[in-house]
Amino acid sequence: MPSQTAPRPASAAESTPIGYFTAANSADVVIARMEGCPNDRLKTIVSALVRHLHAAIKEVELTTEEWAAAIDFLTRTGQICSDWRQEFILLSDVLGASMLVDAINHDKGGGTTESTVLGPFHVENAPRRALGDSICLDGIGEPVLVRGRVTDEAGRPIPHALLDVWQANGDGFYDVQQQGLQPEMNLRGLFEADDEGRFWFRSIVPQYYAIPHDGPVGQLLIALGRHPYRPAHIHFIVAADGYEPVTTHIFMPGDPYLESDAVFGVKESLIATLRDLDEPAPAGAGEAPKRVVEWDFRLMRRRATPAEPLS
Ligand code: BEZ
Ligand code: FE
Repeated sequence: MPSQTAPRPASAAESTPIGYFTAANSADVVIARMEGCPNDRLKTIVSALVRHLHAAIKEVELTTEEWAAAIDFLTRTGQICSDWRQEFILLSDVLGASMLVDAINHDKGGGTTESTVLGPFHVENAPRRALGDSICLDGIGEPVLVRGRVTDEAGRPIPHALLDVWQANGDGFYDVQQQGLQPEMNLRGLFEADDEGRFWFRSIVPQYYAIPHDGPVGQLLIALGRHPYRPAHIHFIVAADGYEPVTTHIFMPGDPYLESDAVFGVKESLIATLRDLDEPAPAGAGEAPKRVVEWDFRLMRRRATPAEPLS
């Protein structure tokens, strides 16, 4: 029984305006079938997808077995997804799609801090911590002081900017990957910069780590002769009223994977310096850091949009 909302079947003439489906005209025939789509943007996106997909299939002369293997791969990619595992985002990451979307949407220029991939391990509602606190709750790893300022494009401080910070532990795992092993909210924190836009907190020197590679995406990487490693980094989302927030990382210098990040997230402007701390560390609990990472974030003023005028 046709559903009540299904579009009325087109006449033969309407449904085959450019002839029956052949290998030669395949994309055109599929795209023509979307002529009545009321959503222009959807039509544009799906048409481009069909055009490029058909061109790729023709270019490689995909076999039936290869097509079945691709369907099986996508099926397994979906099946391994759960509340805490998003294999499709991982797939997008290792194919460079996530960073391409980021590049197209966050090309701010003007010397402001560049963005990079969010990754799957950000959690909402990280605990608020006081400036100087440590985000390392298990005391494992080499202590480091992280400090800097949040400023506008002209270098003027942005008071009370918020910094959402997270990183992997010394073994290369995020707390959410090792529930029950790591303390909850280990190596996460939300900091508010002071009146002069300054922030400082304690952490551990991050290490390079492997992205989850025990699933279909990991199998794909191995089949492609690729490694699953990301260079050592600390994640940040930095936000302030009236400014565009930035989702980014700071990378550790000298990491062996800086030039071959499995998810293509490295930008030269995001490689920090790590040096010995030559003055006493600011007060704080735990072992005093002997090393420091200094990093300033520059945010761009938010642009008004017609739909959302700024006050
Ligand atoms: C991360 O840096 O946390 C990450 C990013 C992309 C894929 C996997 C992990
Ligand atoms: Fe990460």
